[in-house]
Amino acid sequence: GNVPLEMHKVRIVQKLNLVPIERRLEAINEAGNNTFLLKNSDIFLDMLTDSGVNAMSDKQLAAMMEADDSYAGSATFTKLENKIKEIFGMEYFLPAHQGRACENIISQAYVKPGDIIPMNYHFTTTKAHITLNGGLVEEIIIDEGLNPTSDYPFKGNMDVEKLKGLISKHGAEKIAYVRLETGTNLIGGQPHSLENMQEIRKVCDEFGLMLVLDASLLADNLYFIKTREEKCKDMSIREITRAMADLSDIIYFSARKLGCARGGGICIRDKDIYMKLRELITLYEGFLTYGGMSVREIEAITVGLDETMDENMINQGPQFIAYMCEKLQESGVPIITPPGGLGCHLNAMEFVDHIPQSQYPAGALASALYIVSGVRGMERGTISEQRDENGNEHFANMELLRLAMPRRVFTLSQVNYAVDRIKWLYENRKLIGGITFVEEPKVLRFFFGKLTAV
Ligand code: F0G
Repeated sequence: GNVPLEMHKVRIVQKLNLVPIERRLEAINEAGNNTFLLKNSDIFLDMLTDSGVNAMSDKQLAAMMEADDSYAGSATFTKLENKIKEIFGMEYFLPAHQGRACENIISQAYVKPGDIIPMNYHFTTTKAHITLNGGLVEEIIIDEGLNPTSDYPFKGNMDVEKLKGLISKHGAEKIAYVRLETGTNLIGGQPHSLENMQEIRKVCDEFGLMLVLDASLLADNLYFIKTREEKCKDMSIREITRAMADLSDIIYFSARKLGCARGGGICIRDKDIYMKLRELITLYEGFLTYGGMSVREIEAITVGLDETMDENMINQGPQFIAYMCEKLQESGVPIITPPGGLGCHLNAMEFVDHIPQSQYPAGALASALYIVSGVRGMERGTISEQRDENGNEHFANMELLRLAMPRRVFTLSQVNYAVDRIKWLYENRKLIGGITFVEEPKVLRFFFGKLTAV
């Protein structure tokens, strides 16, 4: 197989605990079978997310020491603004405290009640903000995107015919904007191609629609375009990034995933759009030269964006994920293929096919894996969905247990440990039973809801 090679060395470490299984059982009960509610002291390998937990570089830490701390007009902000211009070629940049803050601003500015927002696929916080403003999310991922096992290289692509269909059905004036999520999170970190983006742009141009790119998972998607898209294999990462940016009207991102450990921002080409969004930034985030971030974070983002242009940096996530997926596949464990970015995704619908969707197979699997290994994953299935207007359960298209691979954080032995425990659990999968809510919050219930064994 392909063994990934680390293109960095470890200089600072954090000690981990592996508490006994009896404590793990107690801990998951205290957490109401919700891995979000576990405490880090009870966790061995934290594969909940890559958000805010990718390893930072020596260069980022050094830059943080230089930060120019002023409320307004900080030189640190100017550096980031210039870096955005250099990389994305976009004139304007608005800072925000994280990705969902950008979603709040963009939804408030552009989503009116009854509007349609077509997208390749939703993300939890994105959908919450759009529906809060009365908009309707229309997912138009290509059919192959929802096929759990596939060798299609770009399962994150948008179905351009479906986009045209939506426009002719509702009329362009009902469409607030078209949203493309790079490295499509909830279907297994699956990339879209540059070609797909070019086709989407053509349709947007034809109907005068704005294309909004959620670039939170840009690093992984860039790597996949570079390595999987024939036409792009001779382009540099910078050239691919610029080509993507040139097709977008707005790019927003969570810097917790892209560039740093905190923060986010909105990159804008057009002055009118900038003026419209600007007021909301000062209302919700902070002054225009910090937007809810500390200047130290802003310094780290500037360096982090530059480092994202390095193929030897952005290949680390995908290569570790591909290794983990390959090892699991060899043992017949059902996973999402082809391996994407973000993490390795177990297909719970198959892994625990004896648990009906109404008993949250992915949530049950998350609980069980924690008990047998101390590894914390994240449910990405029906628990992560929201009920409809009438309170009916909305069954997810996919029931996934996401095992995120924060970049440059875990060693290969740790990945092997996780693989070994998952294999054991798969052989003993009939031990796992379904779960049901005992406390169910109305909004984003997956964050703090509590469940118990059926
Ligand atoms: N968009 C995408 C595609 C994301 O993956 C995230 C966050 C956000 C927006 C929101 O950004 O967290 O900075 O407010 N994803 C994290 C995850 C939470 O674990 O997948 P945020």
